[in-house]
Amino acid sequence: MMEKGIFITFEGIDGCGKSTQFNRVSEYFKTLGKKFIVVREPGGTAVGEKIREILLDKKNDSMTSLAELLLYEAARAQITEEVIKPALEEGTSVLCDRFFDSTSAYQGYARGLGSELTDTLNKIATAGIKPDITFLLDLDSQTAYDRRHVRGEAEDRLEALGNSFQDKVRAGYLECAKADDRIKVIDASATPDEIFEEIKKWLCEIL
Ligand code: TMP
Repeated sequence: MMEKGIFITFEGIDGCGKSTQFNRVSEYFKTLGKKFIVVREPGGTAVGEKIREILLDKKNDSMTSLAELLLYEAARAQITEEVIKPALEEGTSVLCDRFFDSTSAYQGYARGLGSELTDTLNKIATAGIKPDITFLLDLDSQTAYDRRHVRGEAEDRLEALGNSFQDKVRAGYLECAKADDRIKVIDASATPDEIFEEIKKWLCEIL
């Protein structure tokens, strides 16, 4: 039987340095000659990218938390079925920028919808597929905010909710990590090189 691909996800609050590490791991996979794809959530499919636009558009400030949750799950159902599941089954590894832990932290915890609901919907949307390992880049909200501003990025709908929302998201992520040792908490206040070394150490254990 063909060996399945490895499923790796990256998580953290907005501005935690996730994308930098995501790109570095992707470069590392290239040097190892691994068969892999990179995807992001929400998005990664034609349908998912359209849903992403709705979710991040600041004009949609009347969106309810439940509508928000269901849109994230809709995008997830699409990318799971269309991209992630087939890739893993044919032995291609998948590096994913955010996956269902984002929903647990942002909608379940920070929005207050509760983990019972988000766990149930996460399972439905992913058909039970779970990452093999998840890197949670843990950072305080002020440092993350400063990093986003140095980059001069325009705020999206969730970033516009401010630091107190990001604090809740962070707490939500740490709760998730306590409950599942698949999630590796990485101190994201370290330098990019130090963070990458730590990620590499974990990768060597599973590759
Ligand atoms: P990004 O900026 O990392 O691409 O993520 C888009 C935003 O969507 C970010 O603020 C986190 C948020 N998000 C959720 O609230 N729930 C989710 O399930 C996902 C995947 C992202």
